[in-house]
Amino acid sequence: MALMSSGRSFYITTPIFYVNDVPHIGHAYNEVACDVLARWHRQGGDDTWLLTGTDEHGQKILRTATAHDTSPKEWVDRLVESAWKPLLKTLNIANDDFIRTTDERHEEGVRIFLQRLYDAGYIYAGEFEALYCVGCEEFKPESEIVDGTGEFEGQKVCAIHSKPLELLSEKNYFFSMSQFAEPLLEYYAAHPDFIQPDSARNEVVSFVQSGLKDLSISRSSFDWGIKVPWDESHVVYVWFDALLNYVTAVGYDADPDEFARRWPAALHMVGKDILRFHAVIWPAMLMAAGLPIPEKVFGHGWLLVGGEKMSKSKATGIAPSQITDVFGTDAFRYYFMRAITLGSDGSFSWEDIHARYHAELANGLGNLGSRVIAMVQKYFDGQVPVDALDSVTEPEQALADLEQRVTREADAAIERIAPHEAIAVIWELVDALNGYVTEQEPWALAKAGDTGRLARVLSTLTHGVATLAVLLAPVMPGSMQTLWAAIGGKGPVQDQDVRTAFAVASAGPVHTIPPLFPRVDDDAVPATPVPQA
Ligand code: ME8
Ligand code: MG
Repeated sequence: MALMSSGRSFYITTPIFYVNDVPHIGHAYNEVACDVLARWHRQGGDDTWLLTGTDEHGQKILRTATAHDTSPKEWVDRLVESAWKPLLKTLNIANDDFIRTTDERHEEGVRIFLQRLYDAGYIYAGEFEALYCVGCEEFKPESEIVDGTGEFEGQKVCAIHSKPLELLSEKNYFFSMSQFAEPLLEYYAAHPDFIQPDSARNEVVSFVQSGLKDLSISRSSFDWGIKVPWDESHVVYVWFDALLNYVTAVGYDADPDEFARRWPAALHMVGKDILRFHAVIWPAMLMAAGLPIPEKVFGHGWLLVGGEKMSKSKATGIAPSQITDVFGTDAFRYYFMRAITLGSDGSFSWEDIHARYHAELANGLGNLGSRVIAMVQKYFDGQVPVDALDSVTEPEQALADLEQRVTREADAAIERIAPHEAIAVIWELVDALNGYVTEQEPWALAKAGDTGRLARVLSTLTHGVATLAVLLAPVMPGSMQTLWAAIGGKGPVQDQDVRTAFAVASAGPVHTIPPLFPRVDDDAVPATPVPQA
């Protein structure tokens, strides 16, 4: 049975990623977080839409393409098809759309938006000279300009990229962002949850309190971008172009019904490096256009490898497929959602994922599923006899209560964008069910010929495992579908309402499956790379 829509709209977005290079586990981390939240909401009946895509204009991409002797269009087409779309398959992301900033629907929407702001008097022409970082694609604020060291001694460098800044001096078009400082501060005050986590919010508020400058929104020294509609010698600044993907993908300005259905977004999930663009520039743009502001912008932390922010240039870059090839897609998704607090930095190590894989997935969850299935096979030929069930006693009542509490608390954790807490609370049920097997000793009941009590115990266990499959399906969609079917569940597990997982219908006949999380030998697991200077 397909789920009924609750009518609540849940539109969630990833950043659109620069296609100057192939994806690494930092990008994968963001994709997985968004997909887990989207799958949870979808499975709860919300009118869910997950958008991801690629950011393809600007100087960084142009220079990369040139360095590879190709045109920018050839370059981005190649990277999108060979690296970025395949990433979504590797991670089993159920995105509803994929937007490229070179899509005609996007370019047209950007032109319309820009023209409206121009007509309304929010854009003016001016002279400009400032220090630009191509890595950030941004004119840097004073606070992020530092003195270079080593080979860049005597030059001004970007505090984030540690590379020299370029002094650009051009005639530009400006968006009069400064006039939105007050409205933004009022907005933050009236919507205390708009920027999350709180630490990120405080940083943005003090940034805006120190005053906003007008924003240069066009460039005329290169042409890889969307042409400014009233002056084709300029292209639109890459961030102004990129941020608009969130509205052009859902029908701005071409499909008013779709736009009304999706906008404003429920959540922009971004790394903390680009939170300011989403929490300052983007709402200012929307205010100028008279469009609603998204409900929430969440800044997640960095993945660290060997104690430093993962980076290819320091040899700590890891491709997602390196990990999924060893542990599988679901273990990848589980590990990053469980082991790292979304919103904080977190370390990746091969040793840690290996340890958690065996302790939590193979021995904790996988083993529970196989044992329960094996016992139902052995003692009842694959089907617990409903007419033989003894009555519920205290331990069964305690498990039923726990299923309710775990379902409720996991949903509340997802609402506060804390998937790590949702998984932790679900694991209370994994542990309790394993404990129940140990305490009830079904094999002893079988030996004593206590069929009624044995039926009650195995029926309780199958119900518990079915509840787990429903609750964990957003995190591990592939293996939870396998488990759900094996425990006797009908149809796709994702059709089971996650918010009433405790009330899942009793399962039918079980069947045996190979281990969900097979052993991974030590020699299949690489050593964690260490950063090089
Ligand atoms: O900034 N740990 O794209 P981008 C965790 N095109 N997350 C990481 C990470 C790490 N070590 N490294 C990268 C852009 N990320 C713009 C966005 S949106 C309108 C335009 C993730 O390719 C994190 O989510 O540089 C970060 O915000 C994003 O990749 C930046 O991707
Ligand atoms: Mg970046």
